Amino acid sequence: MSKPLSILFVSSEVVPFAKTGGLADVSGALPQMIREMGHDIRIIMPKFAAVSDRRFKIHDIKRLTDMPIKVGEKSILGSVKSSFLTNIKTKVQVYFLANDELYNRADLYVDPKTKDGWPDNDERFIFFCRGVIETILRLGWKPDILHLNDWQTGLIAALLKTEYAKEPLFKNTKIIFTVHNAAYQGVFPKESFDKTGLPPSAFKMDGLEFHGQANFLKAGLMYSDVITTVSETYAKEVRTSEEFGFGLEGVFKKRAKHTVGLLNGMDTSIWHPATDTMIPKQYSHEDLSGKVENKKALCEHFKLPFNETIPVIGIVSRLVDQKGFDLIQEQIAGILGENLQLVILGTGEQRYEEFFVKTAKKHPKKLGVHIGFDENLAHLIEAGSDMFLMPSKYEPCGLNQMYSLQYGTLPIVRATGGLADTVVDLDEKPKSGNGFVFTQYSAAELLKTIKRSLAAFKNKTTWTAAMQRAMKSDFSWSSSANRYIELYKSLFKKK
Ligand code: ADP
Ligand code: GLC
Repeated sequence: MSKPLSILFVSSEVVPFAKTGGLADVSGALPQMIREMGHDIRIIMPKFAAVSDRRFKIHDIKRLTDMPIKVGEKSILGSVKSSFLTNIKTKVQVYFLANDELYNRADLYVDPKTKDGWPDNDERFIFFCRGVIETILRLGWKPDILHLNDWQTGLIAALLKTEYAKEPLFKNTKIIFTVHNAAYQGVFPKESFDKTGLPPSAFKMDGLEFHGQANFLKAGLMYSDVITTVSETYAKEVRTSEEFGFGLEGVFKKRAKHTVGLLNGMDTSIWHPATDTMIPKQYSHEDLSGKVENKKALCEHFKLPFNETIPVIGIVSRLVDQKGFDLIQEQIAGILGENLQLVILGTGEQRYEEFFVKTAKKHPKKLGVHIGFDENLAHLIEAGSDMFLMPSKYEPCGLNQMYSLQYGTLPIVRATGGLADTVVDLDEKPKSGNGFVFTQYSAAELLKTIKRSLAAFKNKTTWTAAMQRAMKSDFSWSSSANRYIELYKSLFKKK
């Protein structure tokens, strides 16, 4: 066996500590899988308010207390605390960079009052990126791999390749940058660039300059050794047009040779209907009988009349444009005109929150809406629904469709990114299909596809077979984690 690698996994959210979306699921699961494979992987994230000292048994690391970290002219004190991920036999150490003023707030990235990003997000993540480097230096621990995720971590790559280029500790460190969503880029005015402390030469086309502003995602893209995206289709999409690359399509194109699409996996220790303790009744592909109990509980939760023969369609999502809510809104009368019930759990843009709450009041027997973030309810919706709706405009990977497949809840999706890579249309491929897929982003196509799923639902034999097929498919992390390890190792091979 070759030598184990040492890896620092850098992410702004990690399950179970803090989560706004799929990045947290990935950051909690992938490192544990890599640890299981025998590598020394540790995680670092900011200590947000959600990271409760009590709940997570967090302790201080004395020698990493009150480290001065430079943000522009200021020197801000950061302290590192620690805890562990303990789902597996061998624990994974998690470091938290703490500064109450910067991170101890009601939300990770946005001010809940304005729904805009915190006005000092530039400083919060300059502090984080510099703090991560400072932590490694003080630990004196030499990571072979720095695995960075999304814009919040992009500056680390730029700093390492410039200011710290001669630092002996990083001499053999390779940087991998994973893009979970190219729409979120961390774009700030030129003054924010000045606060990063990067040399002026980094503010250029081949650096992190972006239409006269500083783009932290671009920093990760330009200065990393290899880029990954979270599905193969998304890796191709981001370089095709602005619709997917959000202005960085040219950069993705330029870096195409150094970009790899690696599909996410799912954490089956959290998301599996046979062992899920958050749902009223467990079930499996061998014994599906428990699923209907969950459907009953789901209808009760939303005060919808329960009828086994009426299909329930579930949604768990951030209520943002990415996820196709404009299509659902446009087509809501048509959808609710069908013989179905729809349940929605989500938070996000106010216009969608208001619209769905208002519509549910008008259709109390057909539409249930819960505005908020609720883990238990997310599990109940996966288990209790018959179908799961995800008509995304774009979807880097998408985890909910995989959870749905595992729970025998057939996904209705638009063919983009990871949705295209995981869902096979049942009408097109009756023997291998596991859901319903449409291509054109239109409200008419959405309704047509929902109708196809309702027709298929009526044939119990073929529906049950599709459910069982979906539940047996393997989206666990093991194969993807292996591919990450191979990728890490390939960075050390002489070219
Ligand atoms: P994204 O990361 O773009 O939001 P994913 O499908 O990759 O989409 O992951 C979303 C994750 O967040 C899933 O684990 C999903 O269950 C969870 N989630 C989203 N919204 C909510 C919510 N309102 N309550 C509970 N969980 C949610
Ligand atoms: C992003 C994407 C989502 C992906 C998740 C985890 O939030 O929007 O598609 O599944 O990251 O990689």
